[in-house]
Amino acid sequence: MIYVKTEQEIELMREPCRIVKETLEYVGKHIRAGMTTKEVDELVYKYITMNGAIPSELGYCGYPASSCVSVNEVVVHGIPGDRILQDGDIVSVDITAEKNGFQGDACRTFLIGNVSEEKRKLVKVTEECFFKAIEGLKAGTPLYDIGYAVQTHAESHGYGVVRALTGHGIGREMHEDPSVPNYGRKGTGVRLKAGMTICIEPMINMGTYKVDFDRKDGWTVRTADGKPAAHYENTVLIKEDGVEILTL
Ligand code: MF3
Ligand code: CO
Ligand code: CO
Repeated sequence: MIYVKTEQEIELMREPCRIVKETLEYVGKHIRAGMTTKEVDELVYKYITMNGAIPSELGYCGYPASSCVSVNEVVVHGIPGDRILQDGDIVSVDITAEKNGFQGDACRTFLIGNVSEEKRKLVKVTEECFFKAIEGLKAGTPLYDIGYAVQTHAESHGYGVVRALTGHGIGREMHEDPSVPNYGRKGTGVRLKAGMTICIEPMINMGTYKVDFDRKDGWTVRTADGKPAAHYENTVLIKEDGVEILTL
């Protein structure tokens, strides 16, 4: 069941979305080589709570931190810990915050120091995938046009599009219907309506699209071939005449 938000609900949702955006900017200013992923998580916890919001990932299905900090071959759901960020790493920081009873969710992939041309291109193309997906997106657009746009762009660069995880609706809950895959056939899927809020989040691998789920920690998702992955996400409001990116 896909919720269509009222204008009043959208107003309430703007605040957690803005806090998520600002938290990521704050992380971007401070993240650097030598820091542990746990220290990145501390920045996230501090900024979100300082703004009177709740880090929704903390305790979500037992998740133990306020952010997902995923380095290089980790695609998503990297648990912050002792891993030290190295010069040349790419690090995705994915956060969700709740305020006013609503959620905001976004992710950026940060470059640590001197990053190879190859990895920088992966990060850039992943961001481009998001912007290709929202090009022309508005009420009436078939849902899977999003995945079609992401997949077409990523695969044109020879990259793998992760299938095992998807974007999602968002509102009072972090994950609502519909599921928003990063692959799909143009012209298919439900038609989006004004007032729907969804997270579009391309997860793009330099090599194979295949991923492995860590059996020990129950969370970490890695590329099956150990090559790097990038992730970019925003919470997006569907409007009659286009979209509004609530976390940008
Ligand atoms: N923010 C993630 C998403 O984009 C969810 C994180 S899973 C959690 O859907 F367990 F860390 F909360
Ligand atoms: Co997220
Ligand atoms: Co999300």
